[in-house]
Amino acid sequence: MREQLEAIRNRAMAQLGDDASAEQIENVRVAVLGRGGELTAIMRGMREVPAEERPAIGQLVNEIKRELESRIEALQERQQRARMERALAEQRLDVTLPGTRIGRGRSHPLTQVAEEMIGLFEAMGFEAVATQDIDDDFHNFSALNFPPDHPAREMQDTFFLPGGLLLRTHTSNGQIHVMQRRQPPLAVICPGNCYRRDELSVRASPMFSQIEGFMVDRTGIVTMAHLKGVLSEFLRGLFGAATRVRFRASFFPFTEPSAEVDISCVLCGGGGCRVCKHSGWVEILGSGMIHPNVLRAVGYDPAEYQGFAFGVGIERTALLKLGVDDMRLFFENDLRFLEQF
Ligand code: DAH
Repeated sequence: MREQLEAIRNRAMAQLGDDASAEQIENVRVAVLGRGGELTAIMRGMREVPAEERPAIGQLVNEIKRELESRIEALQERQQRARMERALAEQRLDVTLPGTRIGRGRSHPLTQVAEEMIGLFEAMGFEAVATQDIDDDFHNFSALNFPPDHPAREMQDTFFLPGGLLLRTHTSNGQIHVMQRRQPPLAVICPGNCYRRDELSVRASPMFSQIEGFMVDRTGIVTMAHLKGVLSEFLRGLFGAATRVRFRASFFPFTEPSAEVDISCVLCGGGGCRVCKHSGWVEILGSGMIHPNVLRAVGYDPAEYQGFAFGVGIERTALLKLGVDDMRLFFENDLRFLEQF
C-alpha cells in the first residue's frame, strides 16, 4: 500500500513539472485528487487495510494530498502571475507619446459673415428675432402689400405647400409677425432662410438667407434720414470705413418711397472692374419707408406710426465681402474651400 502511494506521489509530482500546462495540471488534479481520483479511491478502501497500519497510511495519504495540492496551487499562481505580466507588457502605455492632433473646427463662412452682420445691427440697438420659414400667403405676400396678381406669387418663384402654406420667399414675413405681436417702438432684425424655385448656380440658390430689419416709432421719430444713417453705418462697419454708400430710388410693394443701396465696388474701389460691371458700384440691399398698407395690415394706424425697413442677402454679402465668385462654393462644403476662412 505504502509503495502504491509513493508511486502515485512520484508520478504526479513528475507530471507537475515547472513547464506543466494549465491543462496538464488540471488533468493530474482530476486523476489523483478528484472525486474519482486515485487517492480518493484509496481513502474509500481504507476498511480493507489492517487496523494497525491504518493511521500511518491515512497520514501518508493526507500528506501526499497536501503536497500535491500545494504544488498545484503554486504552479497555478505562477502561471497567473506570468499571464498578468505578459498582459501588462503588451498593453503598456507610453504617456509621453504625443497625442493625435484633433483638427479644430470653425464656423462656416456664411455663418461668420451672418454673425458679423447681426453684430453690427445689435451694436446699434437692434434685437434679433427668429421667425418662421413655413408661412402663409398673408404673412409672406398680402400683408406686405403684394397685389393678388403680383408675379412673385407665381409658381415659378414660390414653393407652395399643402394646406395653403408656402416656404417664405423672403424674411420680410418677419416684419409682419413681429409687428402683430408687439407695439412700437421697435428696432428688430429677423435673420433666416428663404426659398425660391431657382436652380443652384453661380449667382442663385433655391435656399438662401437674408436679414430683414425694421425700425418703427411714432410719426416723425424714425425718418428716411435714420434709414440712411443706420444702413451707412452698417455697410461701413462691414466693408470698411472708406466704403461709399449710394441710395438709389427703386420700387418694392411694401415700402414707399423705396431705395436700393449700392456700395463702392469692393474689388476695384470704384474705378470699374468685372465685379461691378465697370460701373464702380455694386448693389447690396433693398430698403424703404414701410408702406401705410403694411402698417394697416398689422393693426397700426399709419397716421400715428412710421418706420423704415430693409432686407439684405447674406450669401450675396458674403460673396462680396470674402471675394468669392461662385455661390455654389458656399453649399458644396468642400473643406479645401471652407478652410480658407
Ligand atoms: N424682401 C426683399 C427681397 O427679398 C428685400 C427687401 C427690400 C426687404 C426692401 C425690405 C425692403 O424690407 O424694404 O428681395
